[in-house]
Amino acid sequence: FVPPSSGGSGGGIVAKDALGNDIVATEFISSHKVGDRVLSQGLKGDPTYLVIEGDNTISSYGINAVCTHLGCVVPWNAGEDKFICPCHGSQYDARGKVVRGPAPLSLALAHVNVDEDDKVMFSNWAETDFRTDKSPWWT
Ligand code: FES
Repeated sequence: FVPPSSGGSGGGIVAKDALGNDIVATEFISSHKVGDRVLSQGLKGDPTYLVIEGDNTISSYGINAVCTHLGCVVPWNAGEDKFICPCHGSQYDARGKVVRGPAPLSLALAHVNVDEDDKVMFSNWAETDFRTDKSPWWT
């Protein structure tokens, strides 16, 4: 017996929407616009943003919304083109790189893929953080 797919060789989980339903890539893209950052349920249940890229695809990285200061969920502010934490004012750029404290670190990343059933999948990001060129602090 092989349990239902949990996301192929690298492991991983299906991204869920606010209602707990699997996120289907084509539906998700058609119901959002370029530049949107949309919260979903990610690895370990962490709120994680999916990003709609300029070519109407979902970005290959998800941005964990948990503030690296004290753990508030950080909302996206499209007008400012930043994530701005309501708790103590930390700011992160559009890719989640910290640009203002007190948060000490950038928001964590997760890999995003679309599986053969058109579902959006998250998996661990263990590679270099492309925003800082450093090893990921979250692994
Ligand atoms: Fe986000 Fe303190 S928890 S700035």
